[in-house]
Amino acid sequence: MKIRKIMVIGAGQMGSGIAQVCAQAGYDVILYDISEENIEKGMRNIEKNLVRQVEKQRMNEEGKEEVLAKVTPSAALQDASSVDLVIEAVVESMNVKRDIFARLDEITPDHTILASNTSSLPVTEIAAATDRPEKVIGMHFMNPVPVMKLVEIIRGLATSDEVYKKIEEVTKAIGKMPVEVNDFPGFVSNRILMPMINEAIYTLYEGIATKEAIDEVMKLGMNHPMGPIQLADFIGLDTCLSVMEILHEGFGDDKYRPCPLLRKYVKAGWVGKKAGRGFYTYD
Ligand code: NAI
Repeated sequence: MKIRKIMVIGAGQMGSGIAQVCAQAGYDVILYDISEENIEKGMRNIEKNLVRQVEKQRMNEEGKEEVLAKVTPSAALQDASSVDLVIEAVVESMNVKRDIFARLDEITPDHTILASNTSSLPVTEIAAATDRPEKVIGMHFMNPVPVMKLVEIIRGLATSDEVYKKIEEVTKAIGKMPVEVNDFPGFVSNRILMPMINEAIYTLYEGIATKEAIDEVMKLGMNHPMGPIQLADFIGLDTCLSVMEILHEGFGDDKYRPCPLLRKYVKAGWVGKKAGRGFYTYD
């Protein structure tokens, strides 16, 4: 069965980007969120990105309208009854994701593949909330989705080869590079990236240097395009904290203990760029 129609669940920074790249590749997309306000924000985000592409002459006005027409906003999960693939990108919480996957298992047709954009949660455990674990898979996009090439593809314990192949095809069709990894806390990307970010926050917490100095060291000294503190803001400090907690719980090693300063910022609601304030402030 060919994949033609995709529902993206969660219209936040990741979900809106995923909806955009799928629509740009010609798929019909439904963008669903539990919050009507976030659906509107997600749609505006897509339009803003496309306007920028028109300004840079990478796309014409007609192309922009065509892509926008391919994305249908939705506030009804029931709309998943007509799709071939679901890509879930809601908050990084096992309970929330398992609840959504169990509901999707009832709503979607038998052939529908259920993918999660989780940054670190075990895909096998999400899959166990459904009666189709062979059709559940991890599709971990990078932020910002329209720009970043990588999609880490995570096989759950029961994911079938056929489903893996289909997801690899979709990933290539939307212009991304699939890399296959096994299902283990943090996969590859966040097992390596997040402890570095957490350590950068500890370095700030212990007063070793200012946030600007830490970011400069990693940019100028290690050739990173963005410093780790700023990157944490861009990812979302709530997401960073969730990932560290999952690594800590999954491996039980103290080296994964989330920095108290990270917890403090999340408790304050200063969760990064998306909130206008994290370690830095944003317009
Ligand atoms: P976000 O906070 O920007 O968006 C999350 C969206 O999910 C919000 O619009 C919220 O209203 C919606 N939502 C919450 N509960 C829901 C429910 N029950 N049903 C439907 N929608 C619901 O978060 P972001 O950054 O887009 O992250 C989403 C997922 O993507 C997380 O699993 C995260 O770990 C993962 N991810 C994040 C990356 C990042 O750099 N921020 C990178 C790769 C993956």
